[in-house]
Amino acid sequence: MKFSAPRGTRDILPEEASRWRWLEEVFREQCRLYGFGEIRTPIFEETGLFARSIGEETEIVTKQMYTFSDQGGRSLTLRPEGTAGVVRAYLQSGLANQGGVQRLFYFGPFFRYERPQKGRFRQFYQGGVEVFGAEGPQLDAEVIALAMDFLNALGLEGARLRINSTGCKTCRPVYEKALRKALAPVVDKLCSWCQERYKGNTLRILDEKRPDCRRYLKDIPSILDSLDKECREHFEDLRVLLNGLGIPYEVESDVVRGLDYYTRTVFEINQPGLGAQDALGGGGRYDGLVEEFGGKPTPAVGWGMGVERILDALETNRQPQAGKGPAQEGLVYFATAGSVDMEIVPNLISEVRASGMAAISASLDKALKAQMKEASRQCCRWVVIVGEDEIAAGTVTLRDMESGEQQNIKREKLIDTLKQLMEQKPL
Ligand code: HAM
Repeated sequence: MKFSAPRGTRDILPEEASRWRWLEEVFREQCRLYGFGEIRTPIFEETGLFARSIGEETEIVTKQMYTFSDQGGRSLTLRPEGTAGVVRAYLQSGLANQGGVQRLFYFGPFFRYERPQKGRFRQFYQGGVEVFGAEGPQLDAEVIALAMDFLNALGLEGARLRINSTGCKTCRPVYEKALRKALAPVVDKLCSWCQERYKGNTLRILDEKRPDCRRYLKDIPSILDSLDKECREHFEDLRVLLNGLGIPYEVESDVVRGLDYYTRTVFEINQPGLGAQDALGGGGRYDGLVEEFGGKPTPAVGWGMGVERILDALETNRQPQAGKGPAQEGLVYFATAGSVDMEIVPNLISEVRASGMAAISASLDKALKAQMKEASRQCCRWVVIVGEDEIAAGTVTLRDMESGEQQNIKREKLIDTLKQLMEQKPL
């Protein structure tokens, strides 16, 4: 019987996995530079956690959750996003009681039952950050700067930052009322999804992408004109801070995001040319969520970035001068010629591995030619050949598979020579 990976999931094979690891390392390094500590939360949580935070009416909660009952009859859900679990952990673990500003990051898989297409999977990965306890726009600017630095450190070019404010519980209803009024004459011309939103979470209509509906959304009022004084100042200060940091952005009043917990600042980072799924990441402020989960009122802000989409964007948008890129593992291949004492090669390999370099060996019964072929197939740049002559002379032959050059070196010099070569000529 043949099996394949479930629809919307994929296998990451070794070559691709090294790009993934590189991206994760760059992400971790940027988080370290900004003073963030890692948090790892469970892959599944109580279903109610997501319904309560993301919003009962959102697409994620109504259609996309992988929900199941465990043997004890509990309703559990594979996490569709990271914020809800981090907020739960922040409260449950007592981090919330420590006061001050808490900066957290995470990296891992998330699950949404969506229609798979380019850039959209049912299991996908996010790197994300969440900051608790800072109310002013400084932290909004800081997390946005971290996102942009992360993309820059990867060498990505051309990503666009779009920012907006969705107001607070005082001024948002005022806007929603104005929006309903403006849409009243055209509401029956909108699709059934928009009509549903019109009755419930009207703001989400701004997220509508279908051209048939969009043409009725051109002349609607902007939420930015309805913000109250505090929200307006917060947004203006954020713009001043981003200008000061030299981070380019566009203000777009229809950036509203697909999750209900946002307040004030929201933003999205898009990569033009990536196709329909061009959002590399997004986030914003969620000042009410900690309280919603039973904590003290605590301002918070964060984002999540889609790993598959960033890697996809890097395929065609990487600055040519941008560093080394994914680190390639230098794998050393050990080949034997003639009848060689069985123990010598394993001992040499152990020494090479103990000094931090990766090494593999051929099976002893293969001809040298077959071993060299195997070394090329394994993409090994250096082959160490140990034959009867070398053993007699206390040497090894080191072959550069790219240039074909060979050198005979003393056995005790092997490790230093390999190290030097790897530094000079990284694979
Ligand atoms: P989100 O916009 O739902 O936000 O997801 C963030 C990013 O995850 C998206 O921009 C996209 O790159 C990636 N993504 C989402 N769904 C898929 C999918 N099905 N396949 C591939 N990539 C996907 C959140 O999840 C919020 N928790 C972000 C946040 C953190 N806000 C505040 N803190």
